[in-house]
Amino acid sequence: MHKLIVSGGRPLEGEVTVSGSKNAALPILAAAIMLPGRSVIRNIPNLSDVTTIVRVLRALGLRAEYSQSSPNTVNVWNFQVRHVAPYELVTKMRASFFVIGPILAVKGLAKIPLPGGCAIGSRPVDIHIKGLTALGADVELEHGFVIAKTKKLRGGKVYLDFPSVGATETVMMAAALAEGDSIIENAAREPEILDLANFLNRAGAKIEGAGTEVIKVSGVNTLMPVDYKIIPDRIEAGTLLVAGAITGGKVLVKGAELGHMEATLVKLKECGAEIECGPDGILVTARRGINAVDIKTLPYPGFPTDMQPQFASLLSLANGTSVITETVFENRFMHVNELKRMGANIRLEGQSAIITGVPKLSGAPVRVSDLRAGAALILAGLAAEGETIIEDRDHHIRRGYDKITSKLTGLGAEIKDHQ
Ligand code: UD1
Repeated sequence: MHKLIVSGGRPLEGEVTVSGSKNAALPILAAAIMLPGRSVIRNIPNLSDVTTIVRVLRALGLRAEYSQSSPNTVNVWNFQVRHVAPYELVTKMRASFFVIGPILAVKGLAKIPLPGGCAIGSRPVDIHIKGLTALGADVELEHGFVIAKTKKLRGGKVYLDFPSVGATETVMMAAALAEGDSIIENAAREPEILDLANFLNRAGAKIEGAGTEVIKVSGVNTLMPVDYKIIPDRIEAGTLLVAGAITGGKVLVKGAELGHMEATLVKLKECGAEIECGPDGILVTARRGINAVDIKTLPYPGFPTDMQPQFASLLSLANGTSVITETVFENRFMHVNELKRMGANIRLEGQSAIITGVPKLSGAPVRVSDLRAGAALILAGLAAEGETIIEDRDHHIRRGYDKITSKLTGLGAEIKDHQ
């Protein structure tokens, strides 16, 4: 079992560099299925979720290897693709389902197990399936597998019932090799969607409007290999900024992309943190107390659900009462009971957490239920009095945070990492 022991109460000071984006790396590696030959993908974070998608690619017949000569780089050689994705990998991580669009586009047949992932709601894949159907695929569910077939994908008009990140990516990838033009309406606008579109366009796809709610894809016959560097991880950057804020410290997050983080930065400022953005990155300084603020999670450019648990920890120490409303996932408050064990005063009412700030949190043994809940508990532990023992039985934290222990200890935190 992975266990972190955090001794709290030290203001974090110094500089830390953000890693590449997990949520861009995963679909981009999946999209490599559509690129013949050898592609090079850079700024890949060192995470277990990335290892999982690399293993999925290998199981599908691609060669995918971390470069020996350049760090954080994965080389993908693509000669032949199999159409069945392995159950044990897809059920381990929801994002491995995202191979369905590329496999279908290349093979005309894809058999993918229904996905697993973080325990933050039922997370169906109906919008992905509806989108592929609109591009001419026949999709059936059989024995726990989604089986999608088509003679040739053809362009179509796809309206997404919800701006799902994964479904937008699935449809965009499939449409890139379809015959004719596709329009995706009510598309997700996350920066990772734009990064995937930039990657595909570099490979010869014709995608316009990514990053807005209407994406136009003109299908092409083939793509070509590319050398591509993915964007920085805005959620990791946000988490590190909250680490500075919650400990009353001063932290420069180098390489963070200001333009991707507006909502997080606005809320940090409302909380009373000073934010300065320069060419190197984003500096947070938190010398005064934390103000209570209300937050509602929304699809981008709204406040990211992936930062909600971290702000729950921060607001647990605010002066006054805050309300956090979660609108993206139906069950994303599993960190709340653990924060309460540390002395937080939080009441759940439907999809809202009502947080009345307390003057201090106290270290306690706590358990990690999902990736961002794990981040929230580390942050609470950094600010708490005494020792917080974070049990991460399923290794959630490693799914999304590259070298989190050394990054935080480099800023003066005291954390012991027990594998
Ligand atoms: C992506 C991110 C994840 C983030 C989430 C929301 C990756 C690898 N992961 O996940 O970190 O928390 O966006 O910003 O990029 N839904 C359906 N049917 C579907 C698809 C989704 O009902 O077919 C629902 C989900 O259950 C959820 C909501 O839509 O309630 C948002 O999900 P979605 O945007 O698809 O998230 P992911 O792409 O899985």
